[in-house]
Amino acid sequence: MTIQWFPGHMTRARRQIEEKLKLIDVAIELLDARIPLSSRNPMIDTILKGKPRLVLLNKQDLADPRATAEWVDYFKNNGLEALPIDANSGNRVKEIVPRCKELMAAKIAQQIKKGIKPRPIRALIVGIPNVGKSTLINQLAGKKAAVTGDKPGVTKGQQWIRTNDDLELLDTPGILWPKFEDQAVGVRLAATGAIRDEVLHSEDIVFYAIRYMLPQYAKELSERYDADASFDPNDNEAIIGFMEAVGRKRGCLISGGRVDLEKASNILLRDLRDGKIGRITLEHP
Ligand code: G4P
Repeated sequence: MTIQWFPGHMTRARRQIEEKLKLIDVAIELLDARIPLSSRNPMIDTILKGKPRLVLLNKQDLADPRATAEWVDYFKNNGLEALPIDANSGNRVKEIVPRCKELMAAKIAQQIKKGIKPRPIRALIVGIPNVGKSTLINQLAGKKAAVTGDKPGVTKGQQWIRTNDDLELLDTPGILWPKFEDQAVGVRLAATGAIRDEVLHSEDIVFYAIRYMLPQYAKELSERYDADASFDPNDNEAIIGFMEAVGRKRGCLISGGRVDLEKASNILLRDLRDGKIGRITLEHP
């Protein structure tokens, strides 16, 4: 799947989310814990207006736990509650409903005071492609998920998924676009697999990914490939030299004993995305 975002697309995506915002109490903004800012929509604050919002740092299983804790603080300092989760395994997914309730606490208290029985909180998951929206919806829905059917005022065909007595989710997430015009953002998105490999060459993605990794994760790189990674991140030749060393170790050779850099890059890229190099965050607050 390649998503090409053009102005028309963006406007439509934005309108679709704005329509859905009328139906919900809380927006759940899903980000990639390895690249929280690069996986963020540049217009998110404008799009979500003042809706109560919970930020989820997904794929925390692949991210550096220390960096994830720093990101949670970063968001807190910016007035947003952030919760690291792993939608695949369901780790910490149970904390989402209580966090949403906290966001709605004042409103719920008001309803109770007026003698109104609080209804389940209605939420919408939003995020860029591949960040894990469908995985999370399935995880929250679980086996017992009941699709509660159309409700008045809901776009025809829009379904609510009742995750438990306290939370109902719109079954289709809001799809946002990333800030792809920024090259560094594009590299980070490609390195984590958020954008498809046809968009950038794997050699280029890996070259920059190594540069971003070196200050924090030289040890992990050295250990994984048994090759020295203790060099300056701005030393281009040393980065290429490292990629070649990986290629030689992994038998990626072409005639004349030269290294097939593309093959070596593909190995590095797969390892990075699969977490084989370690739990790596490519962007630090
Ligand atoms: P989307 O709806 O936002 O587009 O994302 P989706 O749920 O389809 O998830 C995209 C990929 O991310 C899936 O991999 C999914 O398994 C993976 N994923 C989602 N949440 C987590 C998580 O918490 N940890 C890890 N490690 N992976 C997660 P996939 O099916 O293999 O797709 P792809 O890699 O072929 O794109």
